[in-house]
Amino acid sequence: MKDFKKSVIYQIYPKSFKDSNGDGIGDLKGVIEKLPYLKQLGIDYIWLTPFYVSPQKDNGYDVADYYRIDEKFGTMADFEELVREGRKLDIEIMLDMVFNHTSTEHSWFKRAMAGEEKYKNYYIIAEPKNGGEPTNWLSKFGGSAWEYIKECNEYYLHLFDVTQADLNWKNKELRQEIFEIVKFWIGKGVKGFRLDVINLVAKPDDYKNDDRGDGRRFYTDGPNIHDYLKEFNRETFGKQADVITVGEMSSTSIENCIRYSAPQEQELSMVFSFHHLKVDYKGGDKWSVMDFDFKQLIQILNLWQVEMQEGNGWNALFWCNHDQPRIVSRFGDDEKYHNKSAKMLATVMHMMRGTPYIYQGEEVGMTNPYFDKIELHRDIESINYYEIAKQQGQNKQQIMRVLQSKSRDNSRTPMQWDTSANAGFTTGTPWISLSENYPNINVEANLRDRNSIYYYYQQLIQLRKDYDIIAYGKYKPLVADHEKIFAYMREYKNQKLLVINNFYGQETKFQCPIDIDEYNHKILISNYADSASYSKEIVIRPYEAVVYHLEK
Ligand code: NOJ
Repeated sequence: MKDFKKSVIYQIYPKSFKDSNGDGIGDLKGVIEKLPYLKQLGIDYIWLTPFYVSPQKDNGYDVADYYRIDEKFGTMADFEELVREGRKLDIEIMLDMVFNHTSTEHSWFKRAMAGEEKYKNYYIIAEPKNGGEPTNWLSKFGGSAWEYIKECNEYYLHLFDVTQADLNWKNKELRQEIFEIVKFWIGKGVKGFRLDVINLVAKPDDYKNDDRGDGRRFYTDGPNIHDYLKEFNRETFGKQADVITVGEMSSTSIENCIRYSAPQEQELSMVFSFHHLKVDYKGGDKWSVMDFDFKQLIQILNLWQVEMQEGNGWNALFWCNHDQPRIVSRFGDDEKYHNKSAKMLATVMHMMRGTPYIYQGEEVGMTNPYFDKIELHRDIESINYYEIAKQQGQNKQQIMRVLQSKSRDNSRTPMQWDTSANAGFTTGTPWISLSENYPNINVEANLRDRNSIYYYYQQLIQLRKDYDIIAYGKYKPLVADHEKIFAYMREYKNQKLLVINNFYGQETKFQCPIDIDEYNHKILISNYADSASYSKEIVIRPYEAVVYHLEK
């Protein structure tokens, strides 16, 4: 059985990974074709974002049928083949489950709208207040979170798009339906589940206006959430010792994340949290352009590392996913120090306490595409933002600048395999444009170059297998107030790891509080071939990352 603490998980956004049939949309056969590539990288699980039947308003996070695969992505036979072929290579499959909402195309929703009481109780439906929306809550994709239903003079709740109707977890019958879906996929050989915005499913008993915000404080980590997760665990994945789970936790707290992920609570294996990716939100607003706040980033990472450890919780470690801009364009330098900064950022994540996730293309240093026209965008959130900002009178160029920095489409451009047409992603017309830099940044070029970002990731993954300290060591912050350096230690038995990272393109001096000459020491990994053997004060070069292994 795999140990998730020793594992690395690779996220695939199937739509943009590899198209096997030339329709411009990636598919399951494409994933099967690339299994040997993933094996060579060394990963243990593939997390596949939703491929179920869906109108694709939110790229599959609007599920219309949880039991069937959308034909754009392939067939159930393809999926079964993927599970089988993956297993031969010791790669297991983690599925993405979206249970906060369904598509309004789901038969449950249609039957609810047709007036069937049973299905109305599957959703969150409320009466008008003063002739309007039940509350002032806002959708995370812009506008009100309530949509009027003419037929019954009521509103349904949608925390996301108007085509994503929130489910009513208070209803036991609905929860049972959800558990059946998960059991069905466990039956197909799935060994992991990523639970989409799972900390938003527990809504309060009464719906009140939020005089301090958009409503999120009423439903984030909401009432009964821990009871729901315990029940979910007991009735489904908890029965299978080898099924792992990761909850996507929106705007959550450490206290709750400890409860979600500490083994004795029997809820989930680990959690994604996002506070470290809000350090470039001006005044808390995602739709802004700002250099990241380094000190704040370090403070948040240290806090989550230390407190989750104290509470026996477990973090999912990540910089990138399908909702986030590319990290090398964000906290690194995607031009002058492309190779060095991508490796430094990888070192930071992979050496912390938690399970690392790699998002497709991150391992070859894919960047933001810098789209300069709204027509190039496909993401509903980005398009909504554009329309709202335009209506508010904002300048189009400024809106595009914000999208270049923050749009979710930044990570959704097709995987860059090689220098051929469309980077080898498709022989057809890709559903979304590629980044123009694919002739330089691609898998083929990475595989040819021993100094590539790809081989560095491969080495990081292998180190986790070879050194227990990476998976099990205690985390200790070091020098939290340096202007450029993020350094920390790990400790395990008679060993220590000393991890030093320069987040900037200038060299800087660093004085380490540990005297490493007191130990047997060696460099485990570094992004400079000739990293200095340590002396008390060292000069750390632009974007240098170095990990020392110390032993008594
Ligand atoms: C989080 C997913 O990662 C995102 O892509 C999606 O839009 C929302 N949840 C709604 O399902």
